Amino acid sequence: MASKSQKLTFPADFLWGAATASFQIEGAANEDGRGTSIWDTFCRTPGAVVNGDTGDVACDHYHRYPEDIELMRQIGIKAYRFSIAWPRIIPEGTGAINSAGLDFYDRLVDNLLAKEITPYATLYHWDLPQPLQDAGGWPNRATVDAFLKYTDIITYRLGDRVKNWITINEPWVVAFLGYWLGVHAPGIKDMAAATQAAHHTLLAHGQAVPIIRANSSGARVGITLDINWIEPASDSDADKATAEGMDGFNHRWFLDPLYKGEYPADVLNFLGENAPKVQEGDFKAITTPTDFMGVNYYRRTITKHDPAQPGGTGFEHPEGEYTAMDWEVYPLGLYNVLTRLKRDYAIPPLYITENGAAYEDELTPDGQVHDDKRQAYLEGHLAACHRAIQEGVPLKGYFVWSLLDNFEWAFGYTRRFGITHIDYTTLKRTLKQSGEWYGKVAQANGF
Ligand code: FCB
Repeated sequence: MASKSQKLTFPADFLWGAATASFQIEGAANEDGRGTSIWDTFCRTPGAVVNGDTGDVACDHYHRYPEDIELMRQIGIKAYRFSIAWPRIIPEGTGAINSAGLDFYDRLVDNLLAKEITPYATLYHWDLPQPLQDAGGWPNRATVDAFLKYTDIITYRLGDRVKNWITINEPWVVAFLGYWLGVHAPGIKDMAAATQAAHHTLLAHGQAVPIIRANSSGARVGITLDINWIEPASDSDADKATAEGMDGFNHRWFLDPLYKGEYPADVLNFLGENAPKVQEGDFKAITTPTDFMGVNYYRRTITKHDPAQPGGTGFEHPEGEYTAMDWEVYPLGLYNVLTRLKRDYAIPPLYITENGAAYEDELTPDGQVHDDKRQAYLEGHLAACHRAIQEGVPLKGYFVWSLLDNFEWAFGYTRRFGITHIDYTTLKRTLKQSGEWYGKVAQANGF
């Protein structure tokens, strides 16, 4: 890793961005014809979300987006990754289109372009229309068809101006936190349902690619996976097997079908009768070449053999820096992930579509947030990106998670990831020290 005194300059075309997601920031849950999503329902399930927090108001970005975009322009952010709320476009999941929802994203995109910020739109960042869940959700193959219809409508409408599209955000989380562990919406605990959901998110991705290209000439399309760094606690075969197993389940389960056209044999074997049903032609769709792949990286996980734990996998928590999520700060893991992707897969160009940290920020009497730790986190991880690029990894850009403090899923508003502080009473935005720093990095193309 580079020493502090060294100036790191990124390639001239490196893209500096910030990311958010619809449910986490928009609010206006009952406005302009928006339908109900599985997260609206989950928030109302007792005990599911800390403090019973909801997305009803969130950051009120639905109304305050001009201010948020202006902030990005002022600090020098060049690209904005946001997601589209499916329930605003097709409130029932299938059927009638809500023109007010389309109008909102029109305004958002036009405002971004007017400020010379490149839009990166994610089609699915977890807010599935509730009626689709009532009909079975992602384990139901019909959800794929509904997704394609929604994709067609929104990319037809925005495709003349939005040229960068991410199909699905973190299919592992969608499938396994939502349908296996049940800690995310829709809160189901069923392994067979989860693997089927995972398969359908991949299928939805692959089948969406040609639709997006048809509607948006010259569009660049990709999927975003969550890839963290997994390491065994020791060199023992038993510990190594746990790391290999978790990497298979979390990462290879998605990377192999996308880039090799098959599920990894060891994971299939482990799943047994819980393996998903695959139809002829599915892998052909899933392997449709894309223009880039998004990587969301946050932390390292250390696994060890522990027969007392589910699946025989325990975890170690070494001394070190941890964020408010209790995630270890481990920039080397990002370098390892990036170089590993290049080594093991025929990957397209990469973007870091999310990276960032939650800390217990404090708005001090001087009206500022001195978030040194977040700044150090970003600095370390950007240095890791730089090193990977030096070694030939085709990394083209970086989106910090997140532009704003926001609704952190099951943690509600108790975890702040923003480079901008949100006062949830007044909804006042305050750029944090890390945000000021990040803007300077974007403008200088390095630090
Ligand atoms: C990722 C999600 C994103 C955010 C971060 C902290 O898994 O994609 O919405 O919650 O974690």
